[in-house]
Amino acid sequence: MKILLVGGGGREHALAWKIRHSHLCEQLFIAPGNAGTDLCGENVDIKATEFDKLADFCLEKEIDIVIVGPEEPLVKGIYDFFKKKSSTEHIHVIGPSKDAAQLEGSKAFAKEFMHRYNIPTATYKEFTLSNYEEGVEYIRNHPLPVVLKADGLAAGKGVIICTNRLEALAEFELIIQRAKFGEAGKRVVVEQFLEGIEISVFALTDGINYVLLPNAKDYKRVGVGDTGPNTGGMGAVSPVPFADDVFMEKVKTRIVEPTVTGLKKDKLEYKGIIFFGLISVKDEPYVIEYNCRFGDPETEVVVPRIKNDLVELLVATSQQRLNEIKIEIDEQTAVTVVAVSGGYPDGYQTGKVIEGLDDSIIEGSIIFHSGTQKVDDKVVTAGGRVLTVTSFGDTIREAAEQSTYMLEQIYFDGIYFREDIGYEFK
Ligand code: AMP
Ligand code: GLY
Repeated sequence: MKILLVGGGGREHALAWKIRHSHLCEQLFIAPGNAGTDLCGENVDIKATEFDKLADFCLEKEIDIVIVGPEEPLVKGIYDFFKKKSSTEHIHVIGPSKDAAQLEGSKAFAKEFMHRYNIPTATYKEFTLSNYEEGVEYIRNHPLPVVLKADGLAAGKGVIICTNRLEALAEFELIIQRAKFGEAGKRVVVEQFLEGIEISVFALTDGINYVLLPNAKDYKRVGVGDTGPNTGGMGAVSPVPFADDVFMEKVKTRIVEPTVTGLKKDKLEYKGIIFFGLISVKDEPYVIEYNCRFGDPETEVVVPRIKNDLVELLVATSQQRLNEIKIEIDEQTAVTVVAVSGGYPDGYQTGKVIEGLDDSIIEGSIIFHSGTQKVDDKVVTAGGRVLTVTSFGDTIREAAEQSTYMLEQIYFDGIYFREDIGYEFK
């Protein structure tokens, strides 16, 4: 099969690496890709949201399947774009339709969906400019901490947890009255703060059936011990030790199954990954958020543990044959550690030469590229998150130590990574 993978981060390198191992993969293109995906296939200089160009490229190269990594093209309707054109409707597109992608694209939509299908989540109310005063009153009477969420996509920055009432009111005003998050903040969800441990659960659905993929936990804060500002993710572990069979059974029956059934009932076409951002509150799972795609850096630990042929899985998804598939998972633990540019998640420089990439290959580890670029014959930094190193081990400690060791052999100006990924489970 001829495959086009859309995106260009660590998640896409991990997907490209896995697709490359598929016996069904004849040719792989990645748009736009990075210096790592270039090792697995051919990078194409088209952005993930340039639908016309992507469609033309697919026709020119006779692409059979398009796999979409990031949320932006999905929320903007890449699935519908391909399905509505007679020239491209035959191409399998892995991802939800535009309407179904609202599960990630609109927090208010997701909350209303969960409410209607009795899926456990924090209690909430939504506000816009038209009921702003009611919102102020709601926040005044809400127990602390209180969580404010911009409705739309806000580059991972749209959630504010306020421990102080004045701060909550000020933020509410900034988001609604002063458009702090632009269009994304026209509607705000104000919700209950849930205290617990987070876990990412991934289901692949064909719209009728689903299979569960390995679960993972990511580490969002930049500093050791989960301190400092939020990032896109500094590392991840899979599986998550506390998620035993009893917990996962609750996740399946109370969350995954009602979600898949609800999508079907609401006629929301969905052939792709549902990413459940969950929190365990005294061993009871609640949904914090839905995403309509794989996580990053979770993919870098989830995908290497899947033993099935990924392309076979995705074709079965597109053909609504997931009921025929049995998922096989590697029992080993995987830990990934992300190396970022100095200053990230605030200002950082790019274009720094990365050294030691070739010498540091050790069996049991894989280097995935996130923000990298090839310039002449050198690989240089091109983003906040630069490299993501995944290692396997019998324990989290063993795998984490190996990833850390690998990163110590690599150098670029300003390199920083957390040495404590998985710390609470060691
Ligand atoms: P999100 O952008 O929805 O992933 O939210 C970012 C982060 O905010 C989550 O990963 C959680 O750590 C935290 N968060 C969001 N909603 C809540 C909540 N209701 N209670 C506690 N923490 C939350
Ligand atoms: N690691 C969280 C995300 O991909 O949204």
